[in-house]
Amino acid sequence: PWSATTRFEPVARTGGVPLADLAERFGTPAYVLDEADVRQRCRAYRSALPGARVVYAAKAFLCRAMAAWIREEGLGLDVCSGGELAIARSVGFPADRIVFHGNAKSPGELRQAVECGVGRVVVDNLAEITRIAGLVPPGGRQKVLLRVIPDVEAGAHPAVRTGGEGQKFGLSVATGDAAAAVARVLRQPELELAGLHCHLGSQIRTPEPYEEAAHVMVEQLARVRDTYGVVLPELDLGGGQGIAYLEGEYFLTPADFAVRVVKAVEERAAALGLPVPRLIVEPGRSVSGPAGLTLYRVVAVKRALTRTFVAVDGRMSDNPRPSLYGARYTARLVGRRSGMPDRPVTLVGHHCEAGDVLADDVPLPADVRPGDVLAVPATGAYHHSMASTYNLTGRPPVVAVHDGTARLIVRREEIDDLLRRDVGL
Ligand code: LLP
Repeated sequence: PWSATTRFEPVARTGGVPLADLAERFGTPAYVLDEADVRQRCRAYRSALPGARVVYAAKAFLCRAMAAWIREEGLGLDVCSGGELAIARSVGFPADRIVFHGNAKSPGELRQAVECGVGRVVVDNLAEITRIAGLVPPGGRQKVLLRVIPDVEAGAHPAVRTGGEGQKFGLSVATGDAAAAVARVLRQPELELAGLHCHLGSQIRTPEPYEEAAHVMVEQLARVRDTYGVVLPELDLGGGQGIAYLEGEYFLTPADFAVRVVKAVEERAAALGLPVPRLIVEPGRSVSGPAGLTLYRVVAVKRALTRTFVAVDGRMSDNPRPSLYGARYTARLVGRRSGMPDRPVTLVGHHCEAGDVLADDVPLPADVRPGDVLAVPATGAYHHSMASTYNLTGRPPVVAVHDGTARLIVRREEIDDLLRRDVGL
């Protein structure tokens, strides 16, 4: 399975570099990203979907190095803010491979996106149609996709389910917004309706929701053809493919995913007499997630009445996922071998609140002690990108490892960085 490459076994190295050395050289906490692993996942998607456009969802993790790897691997980039767009542009990411998303894009963001010539703007509401059109220079044409609610429920947690009615994204078929948006875009000479988009949710474990969405969305393409005589060439099915965070979890491989989705699209298109649309997919987590891990150093071990707490130098601000989504993690001891049996501990951070739990029920050797280095696997997506500076603590650095060498790609945020924003009295 795809996610088997999330490494849970107690490996001492990643990218050919000993983890204990990384902790020493770059300090802890630190995010470590295996460049070859990221690239291999990009290639897996591209080879599983040769006819499709694979667009990496930047929100999972983006920095200049990552944007360059994605560019070099030939993927597109899904961005949803002026900041993500700026990073992409700063490494010369080809604008026509960028898909611009957002349910509340600011006027400035829209202007930047259209001016730099992003390949697709994904329309999320009726109001932005004329706004986008108004930004297109005379004689120009901006390609857009319409984000439609497929009304398919999927995703690991209510906060990351975006395929149903009753959440903020997309144009509803039920209320008539989707049909109205099609009509409006087709009337705007500055806009070219390239196709339809949907995104079901995140950390999806099975192919069935994608198949269902493929059916619904191809039916929507047929509806556009039947109403306006226009055959839209593209269908973007978003991202959401899940990854393993714990040992023994099984997830869809890109190949499994591709075969099932492509078949569903082809079958439905044939049944409705439509040409097969060009697929776009937007994986985020499944590209960068398993390629990353976080290194922490143990600060204190406390045997409480009901459990053993292992307090590390990290915190919920470098991984808010357990507190936001009830996400579960494991950890392993690196840098030394222990002959002791494992026993379950609770990994906690150093913030001033009891909810600052990084992982519960983690099997660690009974002699785990201050100074030990721990690695938490599968933290390459939605960790650095969601980190905060709560309690005025700086965000950890990101270290890339490749072929036995390590290099800093995002430096640690120092107290001076935090103080610099505070303009004083
Ligand atoms: N496309 C769109 C339009 C999206 O909104 C997202 C994620 C993706 C693609 C990529 O989804 P992925 O393949 O990474 O699941 N912070 C949450 C996840 C939020 C996902 C938001 N949208 C978490 O840590 O679980």
